[in-house]
Amino acid sequence: MEVSEVLSIFPTCVWKIQLTSGFRQRVNSNILQVLNEINPDMTEIPPGGSWQSGQDLHNREQFVDLISCIDSTAQTVLRFLKIGHNAIEITGCWANINASGASHAIHSHPNNFLSGIYYVHTHPGADSVNFHDPRPQTGIIRPPITELTSQNTDQVVVTVSDGMLLMFPSYLAHSVAPNESDKLRISISFNMMFSLYAERLSRPLWGSTVDTPLAE
Ligand SMILES: [Fe+2]
Repeated sequence: MEVSEVLSIFPTCVWKIQLTSGFRQRVNSNILQVLNEINPDMTEIPPGGSWQSGQDLHNREQFVDLISCIDSTAQTVLRFLKIGHNAIEITGCWANINASGASHAIHSHPNNFLSGIYYVHTHPGADSVNFHDPRPQTGIIRPPITELTSQNTDQVVVTVSDGMLLMFPSYLAHSVAPNESDKLRISISFNMMFSLYAERLSRPLWGSTVDTPLAE
C-alpha cells in the first residue's frame, strides 16, 4: 500500500539571524569590552573551565545594538507564530565562555517563552549547539535505525558561526559539546517572557483563545 501523504505536524522552530559584517564587528567589540571589564582574567580560563557572567547584561549601554536586534527578531517570531500579543521583554541576558574541553550539559530555560544565543566567537570544533527532541515519550522505544533522518533522530546539531543569533522556544532542551578547539568559545544567552504575563496572559483561556493586543 502506498502512503499518499506524510503530514509533518507540530514542528519545533529554531529561528536563525546572521548579523551583517559591519554591524557584527560593532556588536562584538562592545560585548568584548563589557566582558573584559567584568572579568579581566577571562582569557586565562584554564582548559576544561568555563565562566558565566551575571544575568543583567541587557541593561548595559554597550548592549543596545544586540538588544535591539534581539527585540526585533522576537517581534518577527511572534508574528510568524501569529501570537496576538507582542509585549515581550528580556528577563535575563548573560555571557558564556567555554575554554578548550568545556561543555554545557543539557538544559532548558523554564518560565520563559523564547530563549536565544548570540555567537561572538566560534571556532572549528567549537561551532555547534545540540537541540534535543522536546517529546520525551519518543524515547520510550528506540528501535535500531538504518539511517539517521529528521524523522527518527532525538537530537539535531546546528552549526553556528560568529555573528549568528538563534532564537527558539524556551522549553526546547539544548546542550553544547566539548570545545574541541584551543580557543575560547564566547556566546551571549538570553531569555524572553511576555511583560504582563502574570496580569493578563495567565488568565484561564476558556473565555477566549486569542488575546486582544494591548494598546499600552
Ligand atoms: Fe541554554
